[in-house]
Amino acid sequence: MEEARRIQALPPYLFARIDEKIAEAKAKGVDVISLGIGDPDLPTPDHIIDKLVKAARNPVNHRYPSYAGMLEFRQAVAEWYKRRSNIVIDPQKEVVSLIGSKEGIAHIAFCYLNPGDIALIPDPGYPVYGVGTALAGGVPYALPLKEENGFLPELDRIPEEIAHKAKLMFLNYPNNPTGAIADESFYMKVIAFAKKYDIIICHDGPYSEIAFNGYKPLSFLEVPGAKDVGIEFHSMSKTYNMTGWRIGWAAGNARVIEALGRIKSNIDTGVFQAIQEAAIEGLLGNQDIIGENRKIYQERQDIVIEGLTALGWTVESPKATIYVWPRVPKGFTSASFCELVLDKTGVVITPGNSYGEYGEGYFRISLTTNTKRLREALQRLQDNFGKFEF
Ligand code: MLT
Repeated sequence: MEEARRIQALPPYLFARIDEKIAEAKAKGVDVISLGIGDPDLPTPDHIIDKLVKAARNPVNHRYPSYAGMLEFRQAVAEWYKRRSNIVIDPQKEVVSLIGSKEGIAHIAFCYLNPGDIALIPDPGYPVYGVGTALAGGVPYALPLKEENGFLPELDRIPEEIAHKAKLMFLNYPNNPTGAIADESFYMKVIAFAKKYDIIICHDGPYSEIAFNGYKPLSFLEVPGAKDVGIEFHSMSKTYNMTGWRIGWAAGNARVIEALGRIKSNIDTGVFQAIQEAAIEGLLGNQDIIGENRKIYQERQDIVIEGLTALGWTVESPKATIYVWPRVPKGFTSASFCELVLDKTGVVITPGNSYGEYGEGYFRISLTTNTKRLREALQRLQDNFGKFEF
């Protein structure tokens, strides 16, 4: 039962490994507070659940769904972008449904990478960009995201021969794990770069609706020329508290959407239509949840920033996302710090190096835990460590 080479070096998914550590600690009787995975603890809005319940009873929905997604779902996505950013998207040709955006992010590599082709991936970055690339036989080339550059990649530092061999570039703003944001001038440079080297941009934007103090993140698709060079991955997960439902989409360049849809139609059969109907309700129905989530995450972010400051950190409040990305204290690596914190306090934080080499020296706090538990987590740090040195 020898495994294929492509998976021999593949570890279990980052958060599957962290889940194991949590299970081990719980088995020892530790009261674990997980600030690990970015999995909203808040419920999906009732009107979306009600729609699911109704749609699940309709036998029409018990049959195979359409491969690209119901036209009504794709229309709802197009309408959502129109309302949000006044972008015109053709629901017939420029949208495909996904079983969560993670699935599409992994499969896009199979559409465009021949063995040895390069995909430019942000480092630190969501692990799926690199894993999808490697599984497809491609070679991930890291774009360092450094704090001094606002965690934006420096495109002019990409060697010419790498740029010529690159077929895909993954980007993700508001950014996981750093919480950084990107403005239009950055995206304009990205689009010019993509045109010059014939690179497809895969922008991953699941955190676009979680922003603070009136800041409104750009959708990549609203930047002039974006649709000429790429697509945007999006999902119901973080905006509507629907990580468990597994529904997302890709939208943008029609040729890329067609290719992604073609590979998917051969290996999966789409999303349960009742879930698509519920997602339509989410996208076009009452949007109060977006403001409510922002308020909740803002309060949590304030608690974390305040708590970290009291512990000796100097850390800026991210303008968006559900994450905070502080440096580890003096004398620690990302892994040694996160291990010590778990051992001493039962608090799970994610080591920055699990997002890539350039994540070393940082750790990530996810704000997907209620204020009481967040306060308790910070109190446990205080009780065990007092102040840290940097
Ligand atoms: C994260 O915590 O980075 C993501 O929520 C994990 C995921 O989407 O798998």
